[in-house]
Amino acid sequence: MEEKNKRDGFGSKLGIIAAAAGSAIGLGNIYRFPCELGNNGGAAFLLVYLIVVVFLGIPVMLSELVIGRRGQSNAVGAFKKLAPKSAWPIVGYIGVLCGFIIFAFYSTISGWTLEYIVKSVSNSFQGKDLAAMEQDFSNFHDMGWRNVMWQAIFIFLTGFVVFKGVQNGIERYAKILMPVLLVILVILGVRSATLPGAKDGLVFLFKPDFSKITGKVLISALGQGFFSLSLGMGALITYGSYIKKDDNLTSTAFSVVLSDTLIALLAGIVIFPAAFSFGINPQAGMGLVFNTIPMIFNQMMGGYWFCIIFFVLLAIAALTSTISLLEVVVAYLSEELHIKRQWATVLACVATMLIGSFASLSLKSNTSLAFGGRTVFDWMDFISSNILLPLGGLLIVLFVGWRLGKSHFFDEVTNSGKLKSPLKRIILFIIRYLAPLAIIVIFISGLIK
Ligand code: PHE
Repeated sequence: MEEKNKRDGFGSKLGIIAAAAGSAIGLGNIYRFPCELGNNGGAAFLLVYLIVVVFLGIPVMLSELVIGRRGQSNAVGAFKKLAPKSAWPIVGYIGVLCGFIIFAFYSTISGWTLEYIVKSVSNSFQGKDLAAMEQDFSNFHDMGWRNVMWQAIFIFLTGFVVFKGVQNGIERYAKILMPVLLVILVILGVRSATLPGAKDGLVFLFKPDFSKITGKVLISALGQGFFSLSLGMGALITYGSYIKKDDNLTSTAFSVVLSDTLIALLAGIVIFPAAFSFGINPQAGMGLVFNTIPMIFNQMMGGYWFCIIFFVLLAIAALTSTISLLEVVVAYLSEELHIKRQWATVLACVATMLIGSFASLSLKSNTSLAFGGRTVFDWMDFISSNILLPLGGLLIVLFVGWRLGKSHFFDEVTNSGKLKSPLKRIILFIIRYLAPLAIIVIFISGLIK
């Protein structure tokens, strides 16, 4: 047996990867990625996104895992332990705040997945054309309280899993279900890419027009990279603290980045060919995914059943992400403020519900919850994803590169010399110089534009 340790932890190697990938893979891949790509010039965005994921995603993710496992604590506590009596714990506080904001608006869309499960069970997409589908979608938005109800149910579900703790809750669900999602997406992708006129969608997705790379595209790709990989707010610091000492952090980071990116790409291959084939504007934003996918199923044998399974899996993918968002807040409340884990969960869920309902209600067509050209929902998304996450990521790499120091970093990635880790020097170089510089440059170029 291992040393007595009253912190909960992940049980197996596969469990860690599944839980971290479960956090990463979610609405960010299947819903947000196509929206952002559609609004930011298609393939040009994809190109920047891939560069962000490889050169920033892997080092930032590894940095978070290192901080978490080294600090054996929540996002705030880890900095307190590793840099006592310094200002570094502020990075953790920003993360907890950010986790809270993301959970508040993320649960809105998560709630929609439940509505869409009900819609698909009751066969309400059958035979509908695009106009009817779009009408349904906007009618649903205008039922503000129905959105809030689904959101509340989703928050409750998340709370329920977090309530039960890491190993019984998070790990067990994540391990089985993510691979099934992958299979469904592949099937959908094949159907979509073989629809008439699908080719234009593939061109939009894969043939970059370099003149489209603007400051806005850069910032959006940066924000999307952090969002999709769950980086910059301590989710992976918190999960890192549950990882055993003999697990390989570097390979975990690689596997998670790879699977997350694969799912996002697949989502693009599902959405864009079909959207072009059906005549849906790639800039349709929220409707892009929620209207396109049922329409693909309408064109498929067994579409009724596939559609139900798809939305159930989408809901579960969202759930494994919201679990990690809530876990950041709950681990902080219970370990730093010594609120009992169960009470911390209830408290965080109620607070999220209160703030989150504004996000949901702001999506009604006649809403007054909008200012400066953005709804409350959009503001929450913009501030957390495009500003706080990259800022958190910047501080995290600076911390690992310059404050934690080389020997601690190498010790963590090699498990005190037991692993070879041939890439450790290159990765440290990126963490120290390249990653901070890249984040700053992208940020400034976005501000200038
Ligand atoms: N990465 C998740 C997704 O793609 C969202 C998320 C962001 C989860 C930040 C945790 C932290 O859906």
